[in-house]
Amino acid sequence: MHFQSPTLSSPLNPPPGTSSGIGREVVNLLAEKGYHVLAGVRRQENITEWNQISERRQHHIHPVMLDVTNKKHVDNAVTEIERYLREHGDLKFAGLVNNAGVGMHMPIENHDMDDVRHMFETNLLGPLYLTQKLLPLIRRDKGRIIFISSLAGRITQPKEGIYSATKVGVEAVGDALRQELLPYDCSVSLVEPGFVMTPILSKILHSEEMGNSTVAAETYSRYYTKKYFDIFQFGIHHAGDVTRVARKVFAALTDARPKTRYATANFMMVPTWLAIRAQQFIPDRLMDKILTQ
Ligand SMILES: NC(=O)c1ccc[n+]([C@@H]2O[C@H](COP(=O)([O-])OP(=O)(O)OC[C@H]3O[C@@H](n4cnc5c(N)ncnc54)[C@H](OP(=O)(O)O)[C@@H]3O)[C@@H](O)[C@H]2O)c1
Repeated sequence: MHFQSPTLSSPLNPPPGTSSGIGREVVNLLAEKGYHVLAGVRRQENITEWNQISERRQHHIHPVMLDVTNKKHVDNAVTEIERYLREHGDLKFAGLVNNAGVGMHMPIENHDMDDVRHMFETNLLGPLYLTQKLLPLIRRDKGRIIFISSLAGRITQPKEGIYSATKVGVEAVGDALRQELLPYDCSVSLVEPGFVMTPILSKILHSEEMGNSTVAAETYSRYYTKKYFDIFQFGIHHAGDVTRVARKVFAALTDARPKTRYATANFMMVPTWLAIRAQQFIPDRLMDKILTQ
């Protein structure tokens, strides 16, 4: 299937936090390439910051207040996007990059249900609602949809079950949308990073440390050892560069033949694509041993 490459530019990156990490890098890359970028942020300071950057570099970055868990924010952001496109009549909607995400490591039994709901709202349900609302525009302009999924959407580990469940959901939504949009020539791609050096890793590490002082550590003591902590820190130490992820997003937005999936970065120094490929041939019981030894 050949997809039209976007020539005019306004890939919107509304939802996902563009305040840091992958989202921030994607906004900068797209803006450098001359795209108009509507960048979703959650704080006034980020709006000010993007406006200053945009003015200084003469980029077309337009920050939009957007907490994806807030339905009103999403509705307002969509209205803002439509208004922006109307005002710039020569632009087409090139794509939506769903990047917002939060993570937390905790055994299934010990997760606070409010945290679980928050993770699903941020990683899956909010981006899903935003995508639904933007589909008429996307179909009209043959735009593209990119989901920042994760290796966790393909391989699940102890303490990562809920984060993983949100990303498995993202994978399913991405697959179904890709199939549903085939008649409209709208490409949908899933970007699947392993460890990437961004602030989310220290946030997750913090949840590991929190876990150490809870009942989780008593019940699941084998996962709260120095060894496990060291393994995660090893992953962080060898985490991939955020610019490579941004380049995958750019490829998904612009390649004439976009891939359905872009694995990127690494998992404990094993390239993400290889980890995904290998686990497809490894029996579950053996995989359990590998992940929990
Ligand atoms: N880094 C990795 O190793 C890795 C690996 C696989 C997948 N990913 C995925 O990559 C994506 C980006 O994460 P990152 O690594 O770049 O981490 P990050 O720097 O922590 O970025 C997460 C972004 O999401 C935003 N966000 C959080 N909750 C939000 C909400 N309710 N509404 C809108 N935005 C919200 C944050 O904004 P605030 O600053 O306002 O909180 C932040 O800009 C996530 O989906 C994550 O799951 C990351």
